Amino acid sequence: MRRTYQIVFSEYAGTEALPPDDRQLLAAAVNALEKSYAPYSGFRVGAAARLSNGAVVSGANFENVAYPMCLCAERSTVAAALSQYPEARITTLAVTAASTKHPVTSPAMPCGACRQVLFEVEQKYGQPLRLILQGQAGPIWVFERVSDLLPLAFGPEMLRFV
Ligand code: THU
Repeated sequence: MRRTYQIVFSEYAGTEALPPDDRQLLAAAVNALEKSYAPYSGFRVGAAARLSNGAVVSGANFENVAYPMCLCAERSTVAAALSQYPEARITTLAVTAASTKHPVTSPAMPCGACRQVLFEVEQKYGQPLRLILQGQAGPIWVFERVSDLLPLAFGPEMLRFV
């Protein structure tokens, strides 16, 4: 038997086509990118989370000379948001990236580790976490849930926590 997995997501040509809330969140991610500390890779990443209580919390990547210590923007942002508002839920996360070395014209895709962490957030709240992803230019991709970016994931049910 062969089985397939299908991912459906939306593509927007530019920010003007986005709903106003999403456009604002992406703008907050672009702002956050300016605060990135990426002297080693030159790859700056910014993220902004919209919470169920209306708050917007942003973050950026933060590098270290000991390379494995580098913190991704997505995980910095999730940690900041849930530390400040443990009672709230992250409903949407916008991510953007820019490089000092080349123009980033494809959407800023979360790395595998970030997908696993974002998947945890989605599982914790039992509600979809939307993702809005763009490079410094180019198309915007909107995923309605993290699980679409991490098919066949290792999740809490594997440990029978649910
Ligand atoms: N980075 C992120 O911030 N998020 C990702 O999902 C992928 C990578 C950062 C880590 C590092 O500072 C730089 O991008 C290059 O890998």
